[in-house]
Amino acid sequence: MSFENINLPDDFSILHFDELDSTNLKAKEIAENESFCDKMIILADKQLAGRGRYDRKWLSCDGNLYFSLILKDDCLDSKTSSQISFIAALAAGKSVADFAENITLKWPNDILISDKKTGGILIEAVGQSNKFDAMIVGIGINIKNYPKNVIFPATSISENSDKISNRNILLEKIIKNFDNYYNIWKNNGFSEIREQWHKMSFEIGKKISSKTHNETLEGIYKGISKNGELLLELDNNEIRSITAGDVFFG
Ligand code: BTN
Repeated sequence: MSFENINLPDDFSILHFDELDSTNLKAKEIAENESFCDKMIILADKQLAGRGRYDRKWLSCDGNLYFSLILKDDCLDSKTSSQISFIAALAAGKSVADFAENITLKWPNDILISDKKTGGILIEAVGQSNKFDAMIVGIGINIKNYPKNVIFPATSISENSDKISNRNILLEKIIKNFDNYYNIWKNNGFSEIREQWHKMSFEIGKKISSKTHNETLEGIYKGISKNGELLLELDNNEIRSITAGDVFFG
């Protein structure tokens, strides 16, 4: 473990590891055992067991960005976790957009370059079901490598642009943007985040399918609700609000 020379807002701190099973797991362990770890970042050069949503694997070899941010703040609870994931996706999307073109966000929290996945967010809560202790915001961005033969077509920043030179600069930008959106959210609530997220969303009106744990629905994408649910217009014009699931194009 070492301390990195990374420029962060004053109230953020960072722990850097050459290798971890998963930065989310390490962040959870720290959050469970330490009181003063709000805004601590756990960064790893590679992960041996990187995890994605729904317990999927997250390719984690050298060359990409893998980190988790611990948030221990009274304003957070398990109900706000989906709002934090939009803040994180927005911060990551804006930052990746400094290095490549055609960046969009896909519900719930994927970062796309030309419709291919280049980043994802895994939010996890720490604590017992009735007592919320901390939130872990795990972010993975494909900079140099990306997985082949996965359910969502993937890409990396360097596959699309030669602008990116340094992982730490991308991390600095994400944290700076996150800090900004997090403060906006704390002061004004979710509506402004939702508005900004919509500006980066893939096009409203696109034909998509949405797969939840018990059904697959096809329809027209109508954006997200004021609570962050996916809005899908079905063939019979009914609008469905979907709380959790995956979105596929076409
Ligand atoms: C997804 O799109 O399924 C979410 C992927 C999240 C991956 C990141 S990499 C850093 C952090 N540690 C993990 O094990 N997962 C997240």
